[in-house]
Amino acid sequence: MIETAPFDTLVATADGNRGSLQLNRPDKLNPLSMHTLHEIELAARWFDEHHDLKVVVVSGAGRSFSAGADITAFNEAAPMEDRQVGWRMARALDEMRAVTVARIQGWCVGGGLVVASGCDLRIAADTARFSIPEVDLGIPLAWGGIPRLVRELGPALTKELVMTCRPFDAAEAKAAGFLNRVVPEATLDDEVESLVQVLLAKPKLALLETKAHVNAVTESMVGTGRSWADADGLFAGLRDAEGRASALAYVERLFKK
Ligand code: COA
Repeated sequence: MIETAPFDTLVATADGNRGSLQLNRPDKLNPLSMHTLHEIELAARWFDEHHDLKVVVVSGAGRSFSAGADITAFNEAAPMEDRQVGWRMARALDEMRAVTVARIQGWCVGGGLVVASGCDLRIAADTARFSIPEVDLGIPLAWGGIPRLVRELGPALTKELVMTCRPFDAAEAKAAGFLNRVVPEATLDDEVESLVQVLLAKPKLALLETKAHVNAVTESMVGTGRSWADADGLFAGLRDAEGRASALAYVERLFKK
């Protein structure tokens, strides 16, 4: 029986040993508002209550995985109790018991990469595009994104991509180790499904213990907990005059296209 959890901006379903978490604001390319971050965290906890789950596919509805932080809410002062919500979202994904497979198409921007990097395995369409524009928006990448990118990409490439904000494609992301597979766009669903079927055929205990073990090892190599203070940099950036001017120019460029 398929169970669906009641969320506003995403659809979470559990069906026996498999689940699905789909960001669901396709007309806006699945932006990550504070509300959505909180919903992802709650969905991760909801999946953990379903003890039969082995695999959860994490995806974005429509033509893109996610365009990152919701820039329409950028200048709204977030309540202080919300300041760690991005960090909590990423940690909740990391800590989910089931294996998570990110299905990436279209754009995967900023916080969208943090969501993807919180997943265990990542498959992208060959047409997928990535970028981390936070610095152009006058803020450091937060939400625990830095340690997760260092974990997946290494420090030098993380610094380059975050500092330069240059877009990169699926082939580069695969070569850097961020993606497990890059497949033709038309076969993305089939390729995700065949990986899911391989995982579902494995014994649950050994499968989930392997995830937990790798996470324990990477946590001791690149502790995500050390990014606890990254919300301070984010909030400072939102008040920095040079950063605000850069953000204004960025948004003007975006809306002039
Ligand atoms: N937050 C809120 N809305 C967003 C968004 C975001 N991050 N990114 C895109 N949208 C909205 C657009 O405003 C547009 O809405 P509209 O149709 O009502 O005008 C819709 O999604 C489609 O976006 P559009 O820019 O027309 O698509 P595109 O294919 O030409 O470009 C991107 C895609 C991702 C390159 C471009 O939308 C973009 O750069 N977005 C901002 C990414 C960003 O800076 N994220 C923040 C990271 S910190």
